[in-house]
This record gives sequence, structure tokens and C-alpha cells, in this order.
Amino acid sequence: MSVLHSKKILLAVSAGIYIAAFLVRGLIKAGADVKVIMTPDAQHFVTPLTLSTLSKHPVEWEFFGDKGDWNNHVEYALWADYMIIAPCTANTLSHMADGTCDNLVLATYLSAKCPVYFAPAMDLDMYQHPTTKENIQQLVQNGNILIPAESGELASGLVGEGRMAEPEHIITFMEQHIASTLPLYGKKVVVSAGPTYENIDPVRFIGNYSSGKMGFEIAKEASRLGAKVTLVSGPSHESCHGYPIERINVISARDMYEAMHQQFTDADVVVMSAAVADYRPKEMATQKIKKNDEDMTIELVKNPDILKSLGEIKTNQLLVGFALETNNEEEFAKQKLAKKNLDFIVLNSMQDKEAGFQKNTNKITIIDKDLSLETFDAKSKADVAKDILNVVLKKL
Ligand code: C5P
Repeated sequence: MSVLHSKKILLAVSAGIYIAAFLVRGLIKAGADVKVIMTPDAQHFVTPLTLSTLSKHPVEWEFFGDKGDWNNHVEYALWADYMIIAPCTANTLSHMADGTCDNLVLATYLSAKCPVYFAPAMDLDMYQHPTTKENIQQLVQNGNILIPAESGELASGLVGEGRMAEPEHIITFMEQHIASTLPLYGKKVVVSAGPTYENIDPVRFIGNYSSGKMGFEIAKEASRLGAKVTLVSGPSHESCHGYPIERINVISARDMYEAMHQQFTDADVVVMSAAVADYRPKEMATQKIKKNDEDMTIELVKNPDILKSLGEIKTNQLLVGFALETNNEEEFAKQKLAKKNLDFIVLNSMQDKEAGFQKNTNKITIIDKDLSLETFDAKSKADVAKDILNVVLKKL
């Protein structure tokens, strides 16, 4: 999923070529909520109707409406998570630099507290003019983010630098820039989720009721926070579709052990939320077992404790485990925290009706390796994932 998903983007269009319409379309496709304002002259290049149809919001360009009302630039500025001025003409650029405030776009720009991007668009000689260069420099110095013009054929027929960056380049630029400001940018987070299935014969297995929901929510939240995420999942119907998450599907505890160890060395954070089967059948029958006798015994052997094995080799990784307990919860969780060499453990109690397998909610207590305790209210697993990653962020 694009980092622009669900973000409120205010596009301010000044009097340049019509491709602002493609930019609106691209931003909407990335999942953003887009509002458009224009300078009065911009309407000569692209109609407000086109932009309002694409953005599904009214488009405004005047300070004052025709009913004695006014278009509130402060409201626009406060609404936006990000503002982008594209195309940004030499005229708008120079007014932004000197603080002139004689149209809706400029007044909104001066009121904006969010990050402001600007994509210049003009003829090549205007773009090279020392005054334009000074203005651009001034705007960058003031904290605005320049999306440089590109080279190519210009509206005048001349060929050179000055063409507004292609809409898809603008979107990629913004995505990368926003991602680089996210708190987990540059970090690799590995999450395990779901149950493991331990084969008895080709058609039967030992498993458990874990849905994988909690781990998937943690993986998605880590991705939203800018991390590079690998999700090692046992059999699960959950999906991380639309997120740039590398998903590795595994079946058994031993498969999960292999995958987790492969991912571990260069990981910064590892969250082991999978419900790993503690035992597996000693032998897997190669043919379906027939029901011959009244009784049947399956001999089980212990699976490797993946988390404990990671705790033994951990260097700088932040290692997080889960504990699902039915009684004496805190005490058992603290023992696991120490035994597995964790940085913190997330405790769910089966005594809480909001916690447990297949549920959409969870109620957790986080126990730190210094044995301090933080108890959270029952909430959706998506919100629990936020709480867990907040603790991760504090610890990083
Ligand atoms: O010891 P217990 O199974 O209660 O510990 C739970 C934690 O250990 C969870 O984080 C779980 O993912 C992990 N675990 C594991 N390998 C196992 C069993 C549990 O990594 N074989």
C-alpha cells in the first residue's frame, strides 16, 4: 500500500500545463483524499470541473464565494497532511518566496503547517533565470520540498529543462520522501504469525485455532511505520494484500524455524506472534492411516523452540515474544521472558474474554525485560498492534 493511502493531500494548481489532472488521478489511485485549489489563471489550462470530477471535491480559486461567503484558506491548510503546488509557475514561485498573498493558493500556502512540496513548471529560459533560481533556493531554505523540473519538450515548443516532473515521478518522489520520514524507515521487521500444522499422514495434522490476525496486524502496522517487513506465516486466511510486505508461507514448526533463522541475521526487530505447535508426530505416515483398531496412539516429539533459539544467537535484534496463559499468567510470562532472552513479552490471558484465538480484539499486558509491567485496555487487534509497535519505537 502506498504511504499516501488515506492521506489528505491539498493540490494547489497554478497556471501551467493541464497535467495536474493526471496528478489528481495518480494520487487518488494511491488511495489519497485529494482536494484541489487553483490560482484564477490556472482555469485557462485545466477546468475546475475536470479537477473536481477527478478529486470528488469542489474546486475553489477565489477568496470569496458568490453568496457573500469566503473560501477559508486556513481551513484548507489545516485539513491537509501534505500540500503540493503543481504546476508551480515562475509567478507563483516568486510570490511564495516573497510572501505576497493575493490569491487563494498563496494565502493557503502561507497558512500551511504541513510539509509543502512544489513542482516548478515553466519555459527553459525562465527556469534558468537567476531570479527563479534564487526564488527556488529561498523556498527550499524555508523548508519547502522541491520536486525538480525535468527536461523535455516544453509547451512553447522549445526543448530543455523546465517541464513539470511527470505525475508518476511526483508521486514516487512524495512516497519516497514521506517514507524516509517514517519512524521505522530503514529498519527490517520480521513477524511470525498463525498456527503451524504438524502432519500425521498425508491428510491429517495436529494444529491449533490461531487465525494469524494479531501477527498480520503487527506486520501491516510496521509497514505503515515505514519498515521493510517480512511476515513468516503458518496456514492462515488473513491477507496483507496491498502492503509491500514480503510474505513467506510455511506449514510446520520446522519450516518456520528455517524461515525465521534465515531472516534473523539482518533483522532489527523480530516479533514472534505465531502459535507454534510444541510437539509433532515422531513419524509422518506416508499413506493415509486406516482405522483398524479401537485405539490408536501417535507418538509425539518436541518441536524446536524457535524463539528460544533466536534469543540464544541474538546480537542487536529487538526480540519480542508472546505468551498465552490460562493461569498464573504474569509469573509464567516472566519466566518465558528470561528463558528466551526477550526484550519484552506480550501477555494475553485466556481469562480475558476479549483475548484469544480467532477474536478481533485482544487485551494485553506488556512485560519488559526489566520486569516493569504495562497493562492495556481491550481493543481491536489493529490498535493492539499500534501499542506493541509504540513500545518497539521507544526501545529503538
Ligand atoms: O513457551 P511458549 O510456547 O508459551 O512461548 C510462547 C512464545 O514462544 C511465542 O512467542 C511463540 O511464538 C514462541 N514459540 C516458539 N517456538 C515454539 C513454541 C513457542 O517460537 N516451539
